[in-house]
Amino acid sequence: FDGDVYPNEPMSRHTTYRIGGPARFFVRVNSVGALTGLIDVCVAEDVPWFMVGRGSNVLVADEGFAGVAVALGRDFRTTRFEEGRFLVGAGATLSSVVQEAFRRNLGGFEFAVGTPGTLGGALRMNAGSRDEWISSRVVSVTTYRPGRGLARLRGDDIAWGYRTSSFADDEAILECELSAEAADPFAVRDKMEANLARRQQSQPLAEPTCGSVFKNPEGTSVGRLIDELGLKGTVCGGACISELHGNFIVNRGGATATDVRALMEHVRHRVREAYGVDLACEVRL
Ligand code: EPU
Repeated sequence: FDGDVYPNEPMSRHTTYRIGGPARFFVRVNSVGALTGLIDVCVAEDVPWFMVGRGSNVLVADEGFAGVAVALGRDFRTTRFEEGRFLVGAGATLSSVVQEAFRRNLGGFEFAVGTPGTLGGALRMNAGSRDEWISSRVVSVTTYRPGRGLARLRGDDIAWGYRTSSFADDEAILECELSAEAADPFAVRDKMEANLARRQQSQPLAEPTCGSVFKNPEGTSVGRLIDELGLKGTVCGGACISELHGNFIVNRGGATATDVRALMEHVRHRVREAYGVDLACEVRL
């Protein structure tokens, strides 16, 4: 088997939240054959599986996950640049593409500076800023789905939305092709620096979080609503609503998934009560 298998692996070691009980198996696969073989075995044995990526947008339960958490190793971490396009493995980090684009005097990825996670995760949730998303760069995506097998989907044939995509739950993203265009390196650097500075000022980037907890409702920012309600700084166990940004819940040390969920419920309740708005989760539960 071309990979590594870790039984009863605490997911707190593999999530940016540093939260999560044990997965029955944590498996790092190093090749396409290993990944598709593993998924097929899970399906045949009726064992749940999910792709963890860098664990940056997920809250794993304290009881853990009674299945296989899959991470992408060696063959999925490559980035090549050919004929105006990046060919990137789904296990490569989005930030590695941002850096590589900058190094080659290419523009189009400045919005993603400082965004954690892998390309696979970024594509599934259509990561981005408020108004620029990774989907605008996608030429094609190669995926594997049990029963269907491998397929290369054109970016235009995928339905993308705000922090969502049409990939099926049992569809694993393997690789993607991204477009980039020549750009003035000074302009690229300025844009990257401005984006990063803005986020460093307004988001708790150095603390364990999952990024934004909720999606912004149409026309407003959840962070602002939570701020207006005076909820910043609210604590539950080891978890706390960030003083910097209302839509971030930080693990101040020893937080459990239960602590975070309790804060989420509190926020949802207060926002519903005050604004009549039902918040949708951005973090994967
Ligand atoms: N605001 C407050 N108080 C707060 C937080 C925000 O008043 O505690 C106000 C800000 O002053 C600003 C407005 O709300 O006027 C919007 O805030 P911000 O610019 O921080 O943007 P956001 O809507 O909260 C979105 C994305 C972020 C992305 C930023 C920057 C969502 C849910 N969040 O945040 O994405 O980094 O724009 O482009 O769409 C993520 O998805 O994980 C994420 C971090």
